Amino acid sequence: MRFKEKVAIITGGARGIGRTIAEGLVSEGASVVIGDVNVEDVSRTAHEIEKAFGGPTVPFKLDVKKKRDILSLVDGTMKEFGRVDILCNNAGICNSPPIDEITEEEWDEMMDVNLKGVFLCCQAVMPIMKKQKRGRILSMASMAGRVGGLAAGAHYSASKAGVICLTKSFARALATYSVTVNALAPGPVDTDMLQTLPSDRREFMRTECPLERFADTTDIAAAALFLLSDAARHITGTTLDVNGGLFMS
Ligand SMILES: NC(=O)c1ccc[n+]([C@@H]2O[C@H](COP(=O)([O-])OP(=O)(O)OC[C@H]3O[C@@H](n4cnc5c(N)ncnc54)[C@H](O)[C@@H]3O)[C@@H](O)[C@H]2O)c1
Repeated sequence: MRFKEKVAIITGGARGIGRTIAEGLVSEGASVVIGDVNVEDVSRTAHEIEKAFGGPTVPFKLDVKKKRDILSLVDGTMKEFGRVDILCNNAGICNSPPIDEITEEEWDEMMDVNLKGVFLCCQAVMPIMKKQKRGRILSMASMAGRVGGLAAGAHYSASKAGVICLTKSFARALATYSVTVNALAPGPVDTDMLQTLPSDRREFMRTECPLERFADTTDIAAAALFLLSDAARHITGTTLDVNGGLFMS
């Protein structure tokens, strides 16, 4: 039970990778608040997790583009549980228009969700974690942020490169308070998001992958839970690649 009595916030946890991380946290003792823009799915998911694993799992309507939503989620978590030990910035969107066709609106939306959302969530828990002198922050970057995107759009890739950099900045700012800040850079993961990419590019990534498969959500959750656990207490500012060898740094 690595997360006994810990309180965690996870964004975008209604489905996919975020849901599997939430399941892992609850199954190992944490109380989890799941924020997601999809209200119906997040309520159903929280109910199913609580039923399956027993621990408190609270759904919350959250659009990570909106500071007001984020502050209200953090405030609600403090009122209900009195602390925030873990923040997992997982919410994200992806699409793949050609670089010369990305509109200003598409660029802004991508940056607002994938990069500004991470920034605002980290900022919102900072004072709490500083006061606690303890905390773990983990953000979902992507292999696309390392390589410029084998399939995902340039705006997606740039937003994830931004997450990798932001991770270092928050890690520096919070290290003195024993708060660690890390990121994961998954390669292709078999979720609904992967289906948004062109099928020929998906096939290219699968056949080029040395491990010859896409990750499933448990592959990513296993790495996430490690970085969120006490075993990773001396790791901060890092981005861990989980990509089956598709990109080796
Ligand atoms: N699937 C992949 O191949 C892959 C690879 C690398 C990185 N990632 C990253 O992992 C994270 C999770 O991806 P996934 O594959 O599980 O995606 P997914 O599309 O299955 O799930 C994303 C979740 O985020 C939520 N969300 C979207 N916009 C939101 C917003 N504005 N506010 C709050 N919630 C919002 C969605 O409702 C959904 O529940 C994302 O950040 C993604 O970029 C995914």
